[in-house]
Amino acid sequence: MTTASAPIFDKGLANTIAAESEMSFIDGQNGILEYVGIEIDTLARKSSFEEVVYLLWHRALPTRSQLDQFNTSLRKEYDLPQGMWDMVRQMPKNAKPMHALRTLVSALALYDETADDASIEGATEKALLLVAKTPTLIAAFDRHRKGKEFVKPDFSLSLAANFIKMLTGEAPTDTMAKALDVCLILHADHGLNASTFAGRVTIATLSDMYSAMTTAIGTLKGPLHGGANEAVMHLLNDIGDINNVEPVIKGRLERKEKVMGFGHRVYKAYDPRATYLKTFSKQLAEDTGNLKLYEMSHKIELIMEEAVADKGIYPNVDFYSATTYYSLGLDIDLFTPMFAMSRVSGWAGHCIEQLTDNRLIRPRLAYIGPHEQPYIPINERG
Ligand code: COA
Repeated sequence: MTTASAPIFDKGLANTIAAESEMSFIDGQNGILEYVGIEIDTLARKSSFEEVVYLLWHRALPTRSQLDQFNTSLRKEYDLPQGMWDMVRQMPKNAKPMHALRTLVSALALYDETADDASIEGATEKALLLVAKTPTLIAAFDRHRKGKEFVKPDFSLSLAANFIKMLTGEAPTDTMAKALDVCLILHADHGLNASTFAGRVTIATLSDMYSAMTTAIGTLKGPLHGGANEAVMHLLNDIGDINNVEPVIKGRLERKEKVMGFGHRVYKAYDPRATYLKTFSKQLAEDTGNLKLYEMSHKIELIMEEAVADKGIYPNVDFYSATTYYSLGLDIDLFTPMFAMSRVSGWAGHCIEQLTDNRLIRPRLAYIGPHEQPYIPINERG
């Protein structure tokens, strides 16, 4: 007979290792993030999103011909089944993009006869399809809500450039495409964050990839996770002027309110993704002649550094990605969908890893309610 060890209560699972992965490594004390052993900064400077997705899924950088083949397979999947375009047209125009995206990713399963194929081959096929179609879904819904005609995918473009074209109707400049591509690289994977965990929990029941992605999108949406980038932008808009930064931020700290875009469960040093995005957002602000937001962000950072750096609270990825997306002309409520558009690659990779060595994820609960209560008939209850 085997005896189970006593379960340990770990609120928020902060000290629990619940899975193994070969994809991303985080050293929160020293501010290091690597994908398959390669520093995130190097990948952001030298690589493309497609190359990074290949790296995460195959644990090795592709050769030129492997990358060409991967790009061809990915681009073939950019388009949507006709029923999906029709479904987007039926959606309420005032719906929020994250609700629309969650619904549309779930609906993709309706057009896939092998949606329930949770074999490694099946999951890998769905992974490619989901990465390729997510940008199309986001852009299609945005065009629809603005009363504009859909722009069909351009199979000659990279995922980032094609997304901007489907969104705006115009092919992006190289700087814009590169900026978005870098944001996608930085958001692709990040250990067992809340949405990745949620996705792994779903696939571990041998459900299906569409269900896992839908779960993950719903989890990403919250302001304590992917929704923080939108909250940062709303905060900057509320502050409005650099002279208001100090009273607003100090007021929030005094009231013990969180400042969005700061703090992280794992990083207790500067988030390496924020380091890169900070430089990037400054450069974009200079290029577009709109330094105001960058300067406000920088001032917030200085005040926070003085007030809470001793608690290990620094800007996280969402802080400077907010101003980067804003400089690219994206609507605020598209910021979290942008995060999902990239992270779908990490979620899918994790689901395949989970399936490769699967065990149902089922933690225990500490029941803290009463026992041995009498049952009082309904007409005798006070
Ligand atoms: N602003 C001000 N104080 C913060 C803070 C923030 N953004 N984040 C954490 N703190 C403080 C907490 O108030 C707490 O202080 P206390 O010990 O005096 O009570 C301490 O730091 C620990 O915070 P806690 O919320 O327990 O840490 P956590 O690991 O549970 O939470 C986050 C991590 C990310 C949820 C949290 O930092 C947060 O809510 N940040 C804002 C949202 C955000 O940017 N999310 C995106 C993450 S990528």
